[in-house]
Amino acid sequence: MEQKWSQLWLAYEKKTEQGNEVFFRKVAVEGFSAAERVVKSALKELETGARGMFGLKPDVLKDVTDAGLILRKVQENGRISEEGYSVKEENGQIVCEAVDAKGLLYGVFHILRLASMGKSLAGTDICCNPDNPLRMYNHWDNMDGSIERGYSGNSFFFAKDDVLTDERVRDYARLVSSVGINGVVINNVNVKQAATYLITDRFFDKVARMAEIFADYGIKFFLSLNYAATMELGGLPGADPLDADVIAWWKEKMKECFAKIPNLGGFLVKADSEGCPGPFTYGRTQADGANMLADAVKPYGGIIIWRCFVYNCTQDWRDRRTDRARAGYDSFIGMDGDYRDNVILQIKNGPMDFQIREPVSPLLGGLQKTNQMLEVQIAQEYTGHQIDVCYLIPMFKEILDFHTYCKEGADTVADVISGRTMGNQNAGIAAVINTGNDANWTGNDLAAANLYGFGRLAYQTSLTAEEILDEWIPMQISSDKEVMETLREILLSSRETYEKYTSPLGIGWMVTPNTHYGCSVDGYEYSRWGTYHRADHLGIGVDRSDKGTGYAQQYHEPNASMYNSMESCPEELLLFFHHVPYTYRLKTGKTLIQHIYDSHFEGYDEAEAFAKAWDRLEGKIRPETFRTVKERFGRQLVNAAEWRDQVNSYFYRKSGIADEKGRKIY
Ligand code: GCU
Repeated sequence: MEQKWSQLWLAYEKKTEQGNEVFFRKVAVEGFSAAERVVKSALKELETGARGMFGLKPDVLKDVTDAGLILRKVQENGRISEEGYSVKEENGQIVCEAVDAKGLLYGVFHILRLASMGKSLAGTDICCNPDNPLRMYNHWDNMDGSIERGYSGNSFFFAKDDVLTDERVRDYARLVSSVGINGVVINNVNVKQAATYLITDRFFDKVARMAEIFADYGIKFFLSLNYAATMELGGLPGADPLDADVIAWWKEKMKECFAKIPNLGGFLVKADSEGCPGPFTYGRTQADGANMLADAVKPYGGIIIWRCFVYNCTQDWRDRRTDRARAGYDSFIGMDGDYRDNVILQIKNGPMDFQIREPVSPLLGGLQKTNQMLEVQIAQEYTGHQIDVCYLIPMFKEILDFHTYCKEGADTVADVISGRTMGNQNAGIAAVINTGNDANWTGNDLAAANLYGFGRLAYQTSLTAEEILDEWIPMQISSDKEVMETLREILLSSRETYEKYTSPLGIGWMVTPNTHYGCSVDGYEYSRWGTYHRADHLGIGVDRSDKGTGYAQQYHEPNASMYNSMESCPEELLLFFHHVPYTYRLKTGKTLIQHIYDSHFEGYDEAEAFAKAWDRLEGKIRPETFRTVKERFGRQLVNAAEWRDQVNSYFYRKSGIADEKGRKIY
């Protein structure tokens, strides 16, 4: 039967050249029970891969002698750890070893990946252990089927206030486990209406069924929680985390949830944020709220992932002292060390909200006694809506490599969220996902590079953005040399290109309000959201130094001093930290205003070059993919032209300073 949706990088096209076929004919399982659900999935995946690539069905043997592929359970041995694996060719046999079934599944996917990339398995000798204990996708899917910030159709988890448990859910689980994801939150952090009832009898059966599909692929199941459920479901007058009735209600509720959903890992909570209720309403702290829920899930091994996206969203734009960038740190740092062991604070990568460039949140590594998880967003909310191409892995690499200076020798964000800094297990990384029920899952086929890449990076942080593309392009798009080279070039520069024609030097936010696609320089300037650029006729930028809002002081030294001065502040973040005159000279020798003009012209030209390069690939790419991506490049160009012309005209009109190169500004 023809599938109604793509298999993305698991499409497994015919392979003839690498001599890998021989390894797939006979498979032996040693030490693992072939009846165990995740082992079963691993074998099924092998079968799917072997059928697609070699047109054969592997025999599963008990005896290893004749096997081409041996799947072996080993004891933890200092080499392979939980959820890790090794793959090695020994005397013409491929041996995949793991200490647990999840590791085995990941090892099998690794073997399939190599074969699917067109690599010979002979001579393979690798050992991989996951860098991050928790590797999660967060869905912002609503139960009516819509997706908050979704750009590729509707939800495949929900429709018409009901839960779906069909083959697409299974394919989803296969896809994300193939890149090492081990936890998924299925519903939007803004929990309203029907979604509040996901933790009731109304949905338990269906939710449990979905969770079981995930369990087959070693994925823990999580739900976003409505903090006010005590009122909406429990009929209590409030949700004070220290109130005995509230505590008792949650204890009972959690007992029920974990009994009804055996694969439940815990909950994600957005509290006291953008209209969501929380402990602040009752004069309590974030720790009071998180700990109350953590105590309730503790008996079942559950965790509470508590988001730090807390700020005043009803700010007065006239007020220059309140700084949204400060809010996360100010709300959470005072309680460092007060959170239960099974609480993880989930922190957005930047202090604002997923802009194309922001500094790393000072909470990461600022907190030194609290479990932390990094939250990034591959749903392209502010980065082009999966119309404009924007490969985000290079940005995530920068974030992970950032030195927080929290502890000598183990101070990068990667160190903090992997648990290396504090020796903790409840840690990791999550991405707001970019999928929907479009046939190609991600709207723009090229956005699947982020879906693939995030998982791979979460599992193995040391992978480079280039290595990830070298895996993904041949598996999903084509292994043709010209296609590989062209796509590599486009994707690797796409983030900077997007940045160039949108908001330069860390200023952010000049987007159309609400939708967040397209240019509106002053769209958020006089609003309540705390998102201002403060441009006047002399300069632009927000003073967050010690003479301004003091945000720069939230970092450990030497970062605090570095950001504090205009001279040492990295220029790509200059306007985030400083209000800078248009005549200020950047390190390139250009004035700030000239940089703004140049970068917008360049950004458009680069986007145009992407579109032309893509056109040259016609005939080398599946027609449907070629057409969809081409259509999106067309829209990207329209968008880039608007950004270029609006931003340049705006600043020309404000500053009165002409473009040195005399280009057309309106
Ligand atoms: C952004 C986004 C919202 C989302 C929020 C969050 O503000 O625009 O749609 O709910 O982030 O992360 O909670």
